[in-house]
Amino acid sequence: MPPMPKPTWLELTGIRILGLSSWAISRKKIHKLRVLSVFEKDIKTQDIDHYAFSGDLVNIASRAEMRRATAWMKAFAPADKMSYVPGNHDAYTEDSIANVLHYWQDYMTSCDQGAEILSAVGIKLSREVPYGPFPYLRIFGRVALVGVNSGVASPPFMATGELGASQRGRLTRVLAHLKKEGYFRVMMIHHPPLPRMTPNVRALKDCADLRDILTEEGAELVLYGHNHKNKITNINNKYGPSLMIGVASASAVATSHKPAASYNQILIDQSKKGWQVNLLKREYIDAHNAFEETEVTPLGFWHLT
Ligand SMILES: [Fe+2]
Repeated sequence: MPPMPKPTWLELTGIRILGLSSWAISRKKIHKLRVLSVFEKDIKTQDIDHYAFSGDLVNIASRAEMRRATAWMKAFAPADKMSYVPGNHDAYTEDSIANVLHYWQDYMTSCDQGAEILSAVGIKLSREVPYGPFPYLRIFGRVALVGVNSGVASPPFMATGELGASQRGRLTRVLAHLKKEGYFRVMMIHHPPLPRMTPNVRALKDCADLRDILTEEGAELVLYGHNHKNKITNINNKYGPSLMIGVASASAVATSHKPAASYNQILIDQSKKGWQVNLLKREYIDAHNAFEETEVTPLGFWHLT
């Protein structure tokens, strides 16, 4: 989220100095407040029931950045209208995830119905960090949104993530239960969920384990960020297709290797037989200083089983 406010001297530990350099040398030239402002105006004109925000919100997770990002989140949408999962920049240092939970917990809290389902599969809600509240679960009619946390502090020059064995265990139980109860399952994670979707230094460390969960229990859609690229990857689980949907940044201008900002509208229509799902992409067009619809992709039909 541009521009970056100054951290305090006490916050300038080694990794944050590297992060500041990276911002000054490259990221500052890509992420622009003018693009983010146009994004906000554009998305507010669309008829959207719920916003799914797959992180990163900040760069080096200084207190000043997080307070500024909190004000932005609150002005953008109330917590029951937007769900968020942490990215590696949000969890930049070992203590950052505690601040993420402190400032943005409301955007990662299960709804009452979701909490009942978690309880039914034996998941006790807690504020334990870093994995305690995850996955969280929000229910919209027969559509379930499952948010997981892959944001963990990485060593210098790395941007890895991890779910951890206990979170993966809870995720497996939740996905299996939701399938049994006939929900359309949308999972959200910051890092690309499968092996070889990004170089190892930027990857989810336990992506092979997550792939096994997704090919066994499945989720109909998996939304992710991190790569700042629009991409749809199709795998099969034992019930049918799982689509992994990556999206570009919301604040970027185009570079030689990454696209300009965009966002996806995912339309899930339920009928008696199942769900018809379509994706509309709205992309930032620099010459017009505006977001425009550039792609309509039918994602498929999922039958009720
Ligand atoms: Fe990231």
